[in-house]
Amino acid sequence: MSETPLPAAVGPQDGAAPPLLEIADVTMRFGGIVALDAVTFSVGKGRIVGLIGPNGAGKTTLFNCLSRLYQPAHGDIRLNGGSLRRCAASDIAGLGIGRTFQSPALFASMSVLDNVKVGAHARGRNGPLTDALTLPSSRREEREVDQAARAMLAFIGLEDAASRPAASLTLAARKRVELARALAARPLLLLLDEPAGGLNHQEVAALGVLIRSIRDQLGITVLLVEHHIGLVMSLSDQVVVLNFGRVIADGPPERIRRDPAVAEAYLGTRH
Ligand SMILES: Nc1ncnc2c1ncn2[C@@H]1O[C@H](COP(=O)(O)OP(=O)(O)O)[C@@H](O)[C@H]1O
Ligand SMILES: [Mg+2]
Repeated sequence: MSETPLPAAVGPQDGAAPPLLEIADVTMRFGGIVALDAVTFSVGKGRIVGLIGPNGAGKTTLFNCLSRLYQPAHGDIRLNGGSLRRCAASDIAGLGIGRTFQSPALFASMSVLDNVKVGAHARGRNGPLTDALTLPSSRREEREVDQAARAMLAFIGLEDAASRPAASLTLAARKRVELARALAARPLLLLLDEPAGGLNHQEVAALGVLIRSIRDQLGITVLLVEHHIGLVMSLSDQVVVLNFGRVIADGPPERIRRDPAVAEAYLGTRH
């Protein structure tokens, strides 16, 4: 289903996965607030990496830097060795970074299928001008977009909802549609911002299975921001902990669980 083969070594912390994403010394300020302070860590190809930290730690800000919505004051972000410094936010999907948002950002009155097609178009070759001229290549692309979108709807288990308006779905289903839209652009790296937020226990369990299959079956590397620590610990090969914009721990989940600095960061800041 994906062009990206799963790397041979996906085992946790075998140290062999080459970095897909490198975040090097990234600093981001809002006026006097240092939201990210020299943040440095790498995400290996084919890994699921959890990014956790108390509210206000800088997780969403880091995602916004990765998506080029924010321009860090300092530092560099590299995807497959290439710097994103000169990329515009509009280039990001084409370069292979997909994302979902803390609150699902779907076009409410559009059908589920059309929402997912928006993602598939992000990877398309033809611009609006070719579309308007309906050149054969554009019609072929439209067919490919339709197929890609339907394949992703099937992958998330919502093909039966294709023609329903997005607004008519439950929150859990809307979150899955947002995922399908990101996947339809065939990303190398998927950024998930609190995908379990607002979901019940059963929906969280199903989401865990889906995230794992995104990595295992589609070969997509995942950076997961999530407050549901159980979900993060069960899925992640590596967990990075942010607190007040700083990386305070980075390692395999079993080490993060025992890290006293992590326990301290969470004390009194339960969510
Ligand atoms: N657009 C913004 N303008 C000003 N301050 C911001 C902005 N976005 C985030 N911040 C501040 O940056 C810090 C990190 O926020 P955020 O990245 O949303 O944290 P998290 O996602 O970890 O909860 C917080 O202090 C927040 O108030
Ligand atoms: Mg956030």
